[in-house]
Amino acid sequence: MSNRPHAPPPHFIALDGREVDLLHWMYARSDIKQIHGNPEKVIAAIEEYHTKHNKLMNVGDVKGPTILEIIAQREPSLMIELGGYVGYSAVLFGSALKAHGGKLLSIEINPEMAAVANQLVELAGLRDNVHIMVGASHEVLEELVREKKELKEVELIFLDHWQKLYLPDLWLLEELGVLIPGKSMLVADNVIMPGAPDYLEWVKATPEEKKKLLENADVGIRRPKPELIYETVVPEFDTDFGKDGLAITKVL
Ligand SMILES: C[S@@+](CC[C@H](N)C(=O)[O-])C[C@H]1O[C@@H](n2cnc3c(N)ncnc32)[C@H](O)[C@@H]1O
Repeated sequence: MSNRPHAPPPHFIALDGREVDLLHWMYARSDIKQIHGNPEKVIAAIEEYHTKHNKLMNVGDVKGPTILEIIAQREPSLMIELGGYVGYSAVLFGSALKAHGGKLLSIEINPEMAAVANQLVELAGLRDNVHIMVGASHEVLEELVREKKELKEVELIFLDHWQKLYLPDLWLLEELGVLIPGKSMLVADNVIMPGAPDYLEWVKATPEEKKKLLENADVGIRRPKPELIYETVVPEFDTDFGKDGLAITKVL
């Protein structure tokens, strides 16, 4: 048991100070002035820290380019990310979105991580294109849709927080009515390693198969919409951590 009054939940990993150490390392670099305002250099520096010092759970340079292609093809005005960590993906995607005037909203539950990410977004010069919100994904999504009424449709969402939450959060998006046929796309990371089998089963199933799955599923307070039709591909990649995949899902 942690004696910290606001200790993060047990599924947080790598809370050994490496994320804050990354910031100290970054700002101690002799080339910090050249890095300032340059997203590519911020990404390259985070990669260097990851390779030479401590491993970080960033989407990385193997899977990242596939998501950049999706951003370039679809040019979303708003992309949402669940799980921001130190801001690698926020800088990578924020920079790509900036090219067509798009924005990224990154939702991160851990305020320490959000603080690191905010600083790296600032360093990259992406303050106007990336907004980081601290909170649990389901609470922030519900607040944005139901209370603030600021989010009416999901164009592109990147699920990269905790694999066990992918399916309940997808059910929440279905319930909130923000997944728009012919428009919305979901990209989920780490669906092979560590894996998200229940999420993959749902996004690959037909409406009839989903109705059958619901007969035995514990949906809790969620109200899934099995009638939504999904088309999902799962490209595989060899990453630093082993074989992994992205689940890329179109709402048809
Ligand atoms: C794999 S990391 C994200 C990596 C980041 N997207 C990148 O590629 O640079 C997962 C992050 O999700 C956050 N997280 C876990 N559960 C969450 C939740 N319910 N809502 C929001 N963030 C969550 C963790 O604190 C952690 O920082």
